[in-house]
Amino acid sequence: MNDRLAALASSAQSELEKAVTLDAVEALRVKFLGKKGELAAILGGMGKLAPEERKALGAAANTLKTELETKITAALTRVQDQALEAELKGPRLDVTLPGRGVKPGHRHPVSQTLEDICSTFARLGFVIEQGPEIELDWYNFEALNVPADHPARDMQDTFYVDGKQVGVTKPKAPGGDGVGEQVVLRTHTSPVQIRTMLAQKPPVRAVMPGRVYRKDSDQTHTPMFHQVEGLLVDEKVTFAELKGTLDAFARAFFGAKSKTRFRPSFFPFTEPSAEVDVSCVFCAGKGCRVCKQTGWLEVLGSGMVHPNVFRHAGYDPSKVTGFAFGMGVERLAMLRYGIDDLRTMFENDYRFVAQF
Ligand code: PHE
Repeated sequence: MNDRLAALASSAQSELEKAVTLDAVEALRVKFLGKKGELAAILGGMGKLAPEERKALGAAANTLKTELETKITAALTRVQDQALEAELKGPRLDVTLPGRGVKPGHRHPVSQTLEDICSTFARLGFVIEQGPEIELDWYNFEALNVPADHPARDMQDTFYVDGKQVGVTKPKAPGGDGVGEQVVLRTHTSPVQIRTMLAQKPPVRAVMPGRVYRKDSDQTHTPMFHQVEGLLVDEKVTFAELKGTLDAFARAFFGAKSKTRFRPSFFPFTEPSAEVDVSCVFCAGKGCRVCKQTGWLEVLGSGMVHPNVFRHAGYDPSKVTGFAFGMGVERLAMLRYGIDDLRTMFENDYRFVAQF
């Protein structure tokens, strides 16, 4: 038995000396000291020995075990040192290689356009107001004089939050708690007109940017898009002021040579209503593919605030008048940057965004 221990000691010594990797040393540890290793095998045969012999062998085996553990630790250290040595002698890090640049981010064309629109109106004295994207039916439609059977309420256009269109419900009071009321994703920013008027006394001069939602998806429509709403209310506000304001905006946004054109239109919340065109930014009004040879691009809806809207918002239509307008931010961005497919705006491709 003692011979076997001696043989194990010497073979362990020479094998550990030859090991050059951490894995090899670990394999040897298992081979000699593991549960099914060589030392365990020797101890397993002890049962046949006389008690004194057994005691002596046990002591010798313990000494060998401690010895082997020390040697294994030493072998591990040696192998690690050798690996480090080799790495230091190996190919050097080339500090002259160009670094991997960290690219700065880029503002999305929609964000740029939205901020430009708002800052243009800020220079005209408009403040910024905001409202919720998840809106009560009352603010989105009814307060804006949109009757219950108006096509704009059709399931095809509006996202109803509970998935079904139920009867029109009124808040218990303007700005009511909304319990039991129909909830929609706002289809336009016009409900912020109502919220703004309910929250403050005239005069009002505000732009209201934000996301809006409609069930619509093709080359020029996405289910989510952005609008900027405008509202100006005071005593004796006229349509001429609406025209002057939007004309000033068009020149600031599209360039000093831009012209505007007002065409009669209809919105339930304005009377009279007008669709506003700007002279085509691509052909300067001569006629091209983008403006379908008309020389004009339709950019926004506008009009004089309907008396019923004032009534719903708690303003007296015999004392104040006002104008409102609403424009689609993506549409303006597409015109400004010559983007022909709206959906590319929302594909989250940095290469697209970085072009503008
Ligand atoms: N809310 C209208 C739309 O989304 C735009 C609009 C706003 C028209 C204000 C007139 C006045 O189409």
